[in-house]
Amino acid sequence: MKLICVVNDPDASGADVSKLLTTDPALATQVLKLVNSAYFGLMEKVSDVHQAVVLLGMRQIRNIALGASVVRAFGNNAEEARFDPRKFWLHSIAVANLSMKVAQMLPATDPDQAYVVGLLHDMGKLVIHQFRHEEFMAILDRAEKASLAFYDAEPTRIESNHAEVGAWLAQEWELEHSIAEGVRWHHTPEKYAVHRLAGVCRFANYVCAIKFLQCPGSYDAVPLGEPVWEPLELTQADFLRVMNEADQEIAFAKDVLQSIT
Ligand SMILES: [Fe+2]
Ligand SMILES: [Fe+2]
Repeated sequence: MKLICVVNDPDASGADVSKLLTTDPALATQVLKLVNSAYFGLMEKVSDVHQAVVLLGMRQIRNIALGASVVRAFGNNAEEARFDPRKFWLHSIAVANLSMKVAQMLPATDPDQAYVVGLLHDMGKLVIHQFRHEEFMAILDRAEKASLAFYDAEPTRIESNHAEVGAWLAQEWELEHSIAEGVRWHHTPEKYAVHRLAGVCRFANYVCAIKFLQCPGSYDAVPLGEPVWEPLELTQADFLRVMNEADQEIAFAKDVLQSIT
């Protein structure tokens, strides 16, 4: 997980990132794939990594490197119809992109940190899937039968939940404290006023749910009209602005996922 620390370092320069790419051919290929994807609509194919860094910008390179390293850490093998890893990652990357958008509208909220919280917020589910598989399947059953969110079905089967497990993982990876707290509280509205990144993540999740891009494993109906902007002191107009950009962000998330898998 050293890569995550490097790409998440706010002091990392363009040269550091280029160096990282030259030592990681798989990542370099992914970056080139993304820069040549439909989203950017370039007339000519880019084959030089340095040029790709200039075109995409540091932020996108860091984001794709981070995405690629977590997908690598957990794998991407489709094995269960009810918990499709591709859908999981598409949800996570789309929430990350949208979280960055929302954070850009807020004072004193770091868009890069918001991206990382978005990307990692549900990762605790993968940990439970991997290490407590029987319980994971029981949670899925319960959520499906009772039309519940995964989070609401967890307490009957495990002593923790995916938000806490994800926060623990973020700490293990030595990510910033605020990132771990954003992950920890993303299902706890009372905390959004203090832990803004958690509120940002909730906002982005809600937009994704409306766009039928809920995380696999949740079976609850989307509560229409939830004022997700209120705890962040944003307005309904801000929400509609994000909604307007949601299709584009989800399309970009698809390109990112395709480039890293
Ligand atoms: Fe969650
Ligand atoms: Fe989610």
